[in-house]
Amino acid sequence: MWSDIFQTEKPGYFGQFGGMFIPEILRATFEELIEAFESAKTDPSFWTEYVQTMQSYSCRPTPITYLPNLSKKNGGAQIYCKREDLNQTGAHKANNVMGQGLLVKRMGKSRVIAETGAGQHGVATATMAARFGLECTIYMGALDVERQRPNVFWMEQLGAEVVAVTEGSATLKDAINAAMRDWSASMDDTHYALGTVCGPHPFPTMVSYFQSLIGQESREQILELTGRLPDRIYACVGGGSNASGLFLPFLEDEGVELVGVEAGGHGVESGAHAVRFSGGHIGVAQGYKTYFLQNPEGQMMHTHSIAAGLDYVGVGPILSHLHDEGKVRFSFATDKEVIDAVRLLIRTEGLIPALESTHGLAGLLRESSEMDEEDIVVFNLSGRGDKDIFNIAEALDDPKWREFIHQKSNEYRKASN
Ligand SMILES: Cc1ncc(COP(=O)(O)O)c(C=O)c1O
Repeated sequence: MWSDIFQTEKPGYFGQFGGMFIPEILRATFEELIEAFESAKTDPSFWTEYVQTMQSYSCRPTPITYLPNLSKKNGGAQIYCKREDLNQTGAHKANNVMGQGLLVKRMGKSRVIAETGAGQHGVATATMAARFGLECTIYMGALDVERQRPNVFWMEQLGAEVVAVTEGSATLKDAINAAMRDWSASMDDTHYALGTVCGPHPFPTMVSYFQSLIGQESREQILELTGRLPDRIYACVGGGSNASGLFLPFLEDEGVELVGVEAGGHGVESGAHAVRFSGGHIGVAQGYKTYFLQNPEGQMMHTHSIAAGLDYVGVGPILSHLHDEGKVRFSFATDKEVIDAVRLLIRTEGLIPALESTHGLAGLLRESSEMDEEDIVVFNLSGRGDKDIFNIAEALDDPKWREFIHQKSNEYRKASN
């Protein structure tokens, strides 16, 4: 059974990866969380409540959509995508936060905190907090606050406090450090809703468990649509939650190749990227052991991606283990390939993808054109691109958008004089 991957000899370890490297002060809180998660998981009513919550609040099951125009234009395999963009708040992040929200209710805590990169996890957490009546603080790198202003706006409207973190590279890893510091001082009444399959045990296991809904549905749906399993499935990999969610339920299907696509930024040779599986080293940071982009002294390197949700220095320990075991193959897509793929998907199929998700698509387009027409490939459209309008318009150098921004800025300037 694929879920046996969670039944490890040493709890929280996947091969040599994972673990629970935490300060003594957090130990009792982690034990409480492990206990709450384990008791919920073995209580069949919890999974039922979770699935019902996702159905009534987040439109699940999300469909799989066949993309005939893109398949024809690209040549080669038939392309399908799993529509996680149709979730409440527009990304797979909803699956994780609603699950953790139900756990918060079981633990009786009154406040949640979270880190966010692209802002999708922050918006999802703020939404869950509004729905469950919890106080909410979101930590976000100051650079990401600038890049993802629309999501900051929504988090604040949802009643969350957004703290811009200026330390380090002012991106996701710094936001995680800030959230951990907050938790050390607030654990009595606060739950840290970590947004991906990273960090100390039980987060990688717990988040993968909630996200596995993606792969479980996909497997049933593609069988129903096409009568067989796909040849390859693709997902973008930041921390790795949407990839783990899609991949794990296919783990024992030998004919299905699992491909993770990381952020190639300006290219691996440029040094401005987040390709942990090419140039990364095994180390311990942020409470767990995995592949990190770090220098020989162990210092974390700066990362870059056009997609704020992918430029993280580490990667989920389950994926690191599956990489070393040869069960998941990793590739990467550059910023330029991603912008080309965004434009292509919008024009051929009328779908507006998140920049993160488009990495999976760009990796697929490169490879599927070499495949046969009978082959079937699926990629996880992990989120929709509305939040990226500023970055996409800038990358496409759209003159009408530029004119609109100038005009708006003049109006604001005049109003404040
Ligand atoms: C739409 C979308 N996809 C993917 C990611 C990357 O996260 P993960 O690798 O955990 O799925 C993010 C992160 O913010 C995101 O917003």
